[in-house]
Amino acid sequence: MIIAIDGPSGAGKSTVAKAVAKKLGFSCLDTGAMYRAIAYKALSRGVALDDQEALGSLARESVISFGHAAGDPVPREVYIDGVEVTDKIRTAEIDKAVSPVSATPAVREALLDQQRRIGLSGNYVVEGRDIGTVVFPQAELKIFLTASAEERAHRRVRQNVDRGIGSIDYAEVLADIERRDEVDSNRSTAPLRPAEDALLLDSTGHYIEDIIETICSYARERMDQ
Ligand code: DC
Repeated sequence: MIIAIDGPSGAGKSTVAKAVAKKLGFSCLDTGAMYRAIAYKALSRGVALDDQEALGSLARESVISFGHAAGDPVPREVYIDGVEVTDKIRTAEIDKAVSPVSATPAVREALLDQQRRIGLSGNYVVEGRDIGTVVFPQAELKIFLTASAEERAHRRVRQNVDRGIGSIDYAEVLADIERRDEVDSNRSTAPLRPAEDALLLDSTGHYIEDIIETICSYARERMDQ
């Protein structure tokens, strides 16, 4: 079974996807981490972010994988070509670079194959922007998770404080979230939008635990069908 969770950055997708996967005993795939890993490799190789051809070949030749703690189906580390980049892909620099990288059709095409291969290898919660619309249109359960830009900025700042990486300036984080929403929603390839059959959940003012429980009960219903 595939549970697709899409939505804008900072809506709580990662927290929700990991918790739902843990509760249901599913694996979890963070497709944003894959785009971030490509952006990281492009920056470290000095590839220009507007060179679509170079970005495409870089993505095609890259192998992204995930590391797990023993017995935990939810990944802990991210690797590109065997090199661990878990924290390196969460910086403000990558936050900026990943938009043009993920808007490049050749990059999306290269990662699509890897995403489908991973997701079809078992029961998966897959999170991203185009999972219900493009990557797994046949997913048994599709969720579109949103929250107001202000709430998402507050959460991102708290997360950055906890992790000790990324900006902790609210105005800067809010501006970055609004900029990314704009780019993600208006790009021509796989723009951010809910699938027609997605359930829309708005987490503004709601406990994240309630959202997690709602998704789990929908999933259990579908598994029983
Ligand atoms: O979820 P995130 O912030 O880690 O995603 C990083 C970037 O990748 C963000 O700009 C949106 C993009 N992305 C995408 O275009 N398609 C996906 N399936 C996942 C992420």
